[in-house]
Amino acid sequence: MSAAIKFLVNGQPRSVTAAPVTRLSDVLRDDLGLTGTKVGCNAGDCGSCTVLLDGEQVCACLTSVAKVENRDVTTVEGLAENGELSALQKSFERHGAVQCGICTPGMLIAATSLLASDPNPSKRDVEDALGGVLCRCTGYQKIVDAVLDVNTSAGEIVPVSGHAVGTSIAKLDANEKLTGREKYGADDIPKNALWVRILRSPITYGRITVGDVKSVAKTMTGILDVLSCEDIPFNRFGIYPVGKDQPVLSDGIVRYRGDAIIAVVGDKTAVQTAKLSDFPVEIEAFAPVTGLDAARDPTAAQLHVDKPQNILIDGHVKKGELSRAFEQAASVAKGEFETRFVEHAYIEPEAGWARRVGDRVEVYVTTQAVHMDRDEIASVLKIPKDRVRVVPTACGGGFGGKLDVSVQPILAVAAMKYELPVAYVYERPESMAASTKRHPSQISSKFAANKDGLLVAVEMAADFDTGAYASWGPTVAGRVPVHGSGPYFVPNIHVSGRGLFTNAPPAGAFRGFGVPQAAIAHECMMDDLAEDLGIDRLEIRLRNAIRPGQQTATGQVLKASAGMGPCLEALQSSWNSLLKSADQFNKAQTGGLRRGVGVGAMWYGIGNTSLSNPSTMEVGLSTDGKLILFNGAVDIGQGSNTIMPQICADALGLPVTEFTYIMGDSDLTEDAGKTSASRQTFVSGKAVELAGLDLRAKILRHVNAGDDAELSLNGAILSVEDDATRHEIDLSALETGLKDMVFMGTGRFDPPTTPLDKNGQGTPYATYGFAAQVALVEVNVKLGTTKVLKIVAAHDVGRAINPQQVEGQIHGGIAQGLGLALMEEYVPGVTENLHDYLIPTIGDMPEMEVIIVEESEPLGPFGAKGVGEPGLVPTPPAIFGAVRHATGVRVTEAPLLPHRLKAALNKLEKRNA
Ligand code: FES
Ligand code: FES
Repeated sequence: MSAAIKFLVNGQPRSVTAAPVTRLSDVLRDDLGLTGTKVGCNAGDCGSCTVLLDGEQVCACLTSVAKVENRDVTTVEGLAENGELSALQKSFERHGAVQCGICTPGMLIAATSLLASDPNPSKRDVEDALGGVLCRCTGYQKIVDAVLDVNTSAGEIVPVSGHAVGTSIAKLDANEKLTGREKYGADDIPKNALWVRILRSPITYGRITVGDVKSVAKTMTGILDVLSCEDIPFNRFGIYPVGKDQPVLSDGIVRYRGDAIIAVVGDKTAVQTAKLSDFPVEIEAFAPVTGLDAARDPTAAQLHVDKPQNILIDGHVKKGELSRAFEQAASVAKGEFETRFVEHAYIEPEAGWARRVGDRVEVYVTTQAVHMDRDEIASVLKIPKDRVRVVPTACGGGFGGKLDVSVQPILAVAAMKYELPVAYVYERPESMAASTKRHPSQISSKFAANKDGLLVAVEMAADFDTGAYASWGPTVAGRVPVHGSGPYFVPNIHVSGRGLFTNAPPAGAFRGFGVPQAAIAHECMMDDLAEDLGIDRLEIRLRNAIRPGQQTATGQVLKASAGMGPCLEALQSSWNSLLKSADQFNKAQTGGLRRGVGVGAMWYGIGNTSLSNPSTMEVGLSTDGKLILFNGAVDIGQGSNTIMPQICADALGLPVTEFTYIMGDSDLTEDAGKTSASRQTFVSGKAVELAGLDLRAKILRHVNAGDDAELSLNGAILSVEDDATRHEIDLSALETGLKDMVFMGTGRFDPPTTPLDKNGQGTPYATYGFAAQVALVEVNVKLGTTKVLKIVAAHDVGRAINPQQVEGQIHGGIAQGLGLALMEEYVPGVTENLHDYLIPTIGDMPEMEVIIVEESEPLGPFGAKGVGEPGLVPTPPAIFGAVRHATGVRVTEAPLLPHRLKAALNKLEKRNA
């Protein structure tokens, strides 16, 4: 029963009529429109809904509205003072403490409560106060710094009026994220929208028979309809045009726990509370294929008719002659490695809404890939692409998981069917059950070196569990063979990678596309060889580091910007001092604590593997002097909304402060490709540089000015000043053209790559990122626990367009790498929430030091490459190397959960006894 409940919100008296048990978060968001309070789990696990209740932080999702009656609630919308960002918000902005921004309101609120009671907190105090709020992007360090520096001007960023590239300007979209105004997938849903919810398979494999669900729907109050596979015009989707294998709604077989069966449509409350098991759906369970060993069993069930032996794809790279090289080697290392499913755990679950406009459909959704979404929706609806518009909302984290469609197809189908807009927001368990994961892997490898430690041969075979559907499996199986030998020059190589189907969630894209799994193997091999040959572990990597002029595994000769050696050299002094400190600690230690130091190195091909992946960008000037970037690259928190204007500004010759942008709308921007594979800075960055140069050339041509002319903009007056003359162009007097612009610059860039031949030889990527990290860990040998104390990361990014954002990407990568190494293991049906599935919290993070190495890439914008994925890849091997150094345990399995390390320690102890 509803009741009128009065309370103060941000100092203003408010009254709502709601059932007393209604979650405060729902009341704030739905009744009062205060969508700055986010909902990441509805279970008290993520902290994104944190608000102040009489000055104390509480989870709004766990607080009933009855509890706040006559009390004082503060949300993020109440933090700004007189329309100005508060000191805390400004400190977040200065420190680059905001990435995707979905956790930012919760972080700000938690910090506000701390600072109210203690204006000068210690680092430990900050970690304690913010410990209940999860962030998946930043690695927390910049957030902690922002809180500690709230009363200082540390991190001050001066708005740039001259050169923008190379400067740590604040994120251009930071203000919206800091004030709660930014709209994510669930934040701007029309009030009159119908809602959808999918009934998902409770079993891993079996046959389903859908009964007369539509008749049952008619008996349920508030339920309008139920959609089944017969309602879907083309009931298949998938990443690759050949091989679309996943049904929108099952057409008879379910292949994983979470597979979609039917979709209920109706009023929000009715849909969200409907007992979906009441619908007549018969389920007959089959014996599932679980794990890679089962998938390889020749007697295993074949999960897709066109995929014998459950093999999705088989890729390999072959160079040189292995057998003689192995025979003649001074040292040969061998190993078997295994990793598990990892969940993206973006704090914003999948969300969006759609509506029919004439004969078109518009889909507003959190996504990493606007134009791919448009094409997929058109395919599912069997309509031309130009009848689909996709508008990206702000994206509260993606990491590869929002490259696949989720809510998009069913929303589009429903929107075309009904008169009203239709919305869908996944609950956290649904998000975790239904979405893609990082591929589990089993890797066997063999590395050989001569007596000087120089690699002579590498053999690796990697099997990846691609789950029930292909998703990005082909990409993983294609990328790993190229990268499996590591960032080293090796004359003789044979690396293969396969994707195998099982009855598990589809494994898809996740920061690194299989390279992090391979790096665990190749870096352990390097440690084995170093140990056997008595060479320092950093030194052996340095001796083998691939350099310009040398051939990669695919026979590609690196021309420039190959900074593996410089990254390792940059780590040398940290390596020496951390080894010394660990040694001193261990000598003084008599208890169960042991410290160790490890190093991990990696390389990463930027962009798609041997596939065209162009980006087109446009920048225009309007009659009223607006400089608009038509930016098709989706910012998922990594900062492309800021990086692209920075690059364009310097190419064009106008200050970055003059820019506005339109991000991603498929009607208004050209296809810049997906935000993945660390490609946006390199590929779209080059396109935007070319667009800026094109616009500049058109302006100069208009007034016949020389190349060195200076531009300035004052309202609608564009001034062009060269040595002799000052030209003033009144933009308002000129005719408009494309997109209502007076002048429009266009740039397109497609990195030069070639297909790989039958031996995997060719040029799969135009450029590569390189990185190495050193980790210091402390292991409790009695408990088997590992605490990472410090990571020093050296990354060759070509050119840091915005050094602060580069650091932020690396910090976030380290956090996810730490999770992969030590704690994250997704088990279907078991860890489907953020309580049982653990991601690093603020207290898990080590001190992080970033060294930016700039080996300029001639093809890149101002020399830049990419950094999104490289941040994560070296972290697990560095941690594992450190654990081995501390304990002697050679780590071959991720995550290294305490029980696994304890078992390995016990085994080692027995062997040494
Ligand atoms: S939404 Fe409340 S804690 Fe996650
Ligand atoms: S910035 Fe914290 S979750 Fe994205």
